[in-house]
Amino acid sequence: MTTLLTGIGLLASQDDEVGERGEIAGAALVLDGDSIAWVGRAADAPHADERIDLGGRAVLPGFVDSHAHLVFAGDRADEFAARMAGVPYRAGGIRATVAATRAASDDELRQNLARLAGELLRAGVTTFETKSGYGLDLATEQRSLRIAAEFTPETTYLGAHVVPQGSDRDAYVGLVCGDMLAACAPHARWVDAFCDDGAFDADESRQVLVSGMAAGLEPRLHANQLSAGPGVALAVELGAASADHCTHLSPADVDALAQSRTVATLLPLVEFSTRSPYPPARRLLDAGATVALATDCNPGSGYSTSMPLAIALAVREMRMTPAEAVQAATAGGAAALRRTDVGSLRVGARADIVVLDAPSYVHLAYRPGVPLIGQVWKGGKRVV
Ligand code: NIG
Ligand code: FE
Repeated sequence: MTTLLTGIGLLASQDDEVGERGEIAGAALVLDGDSIAWVGRAADAPHADERIDLGGRAVLPGFVDSHAHLVFAGDRADEFAARMAGVPYRAGGIRATVAATRAASDDELRQNLARLAGELLRAGVTTFETKSGYGLDLATEQRSLRIAAEFTPETTYLGAHVVPQGSDRDAYVGLVCGDMLAACAPHARWVDAFCDDGAFDADESRQVLVSGMAAGLEPRLHANQLSAGPGVALAVELGAASADHCTHLSPADVDALAQSRTVATLLPLVEFSTRSPYPPARRLLDAGATVALATDCNPGSGYSTSMPLAIALAVREMRMTPAEAVQAATAGGAAALRRTDVGSLRVGARADIVVLDAPSYVHLAYRPGVPLIGQVWKGGKRVV
């Protein structure tokens, strides 16, 4: 069964082969089953079994959210309110969510994750990553990942989020690299650590990532969120797919990212929600680094699933162009997950598509906070 989507105002394919900067005005797409079969100008479109006229709306790839923490219970609205009254964000707040998560049943965790996955989909996110990290004991980390894997193949073992209350540091790192890893690895694709003030240092984070890699997981790292620490250098040293946050970067960090395959994943909803300085996106882009934008949706540092708002912040606050921000939220996220089947609309890619109730993707930043996600197609089927 083939479907022709025609009357596309502006197509932002994220594929340079498809017109200048990957953009075509007056475009059409043909979907065949779950993938894209044809991309081009509407006037040249081939026949298809079904024809849908989008009436001049903009089309872009479904967003790829390469960083989220969606397996947890409870919320931290009080912590947020205190923060807005001047209390700074600290990694230690994670422990409040750990207590709630350990006390929750599998079904409670599953329902909360389903609710957030639904929010992401309605925000145009068709691929998302999610992590453990609110269990911090073997059983809760393992069940967090088992439940996460029911929703996405992009699951990340984050036993090294913080040292849990009452645990000895060295003993806990040993557990994360030993029995907990063995229990979690079958349910995870990635291994991560929070390499930052109040969490884990470079040696501990290296130990966690190297152990995870030896167990067959691929590395990514929470790096340089709270200070210009050693995280980015470590991520690059280990060939991590992504260094996430990158809020505080030295010139050497920028160069290291630009000269590596490690994607700089920026999470501006966190800076918004923690009232922190935004990451230096312009320095990264001008140096030639690959940049991704992700939500980092979590109950502590930023409880938002809105990729459109992340794009608007990246443009307004971080001086990314609208085209750069959309690219970072699609192809950039795919690069951060080392995926080639999503994040761009080219022949053979998955038919994961966002249709905006607007003529151009520029409106995502030009009309901040306005619900412009008109349709979402996933694997060739309309789901929103
Ligand atoms: O990505 N930085 C570490 N972890 C999360 C926040 C976790 C929390 O505060 O609950 C983040 O921002
Ligand atoms: Fe995070």
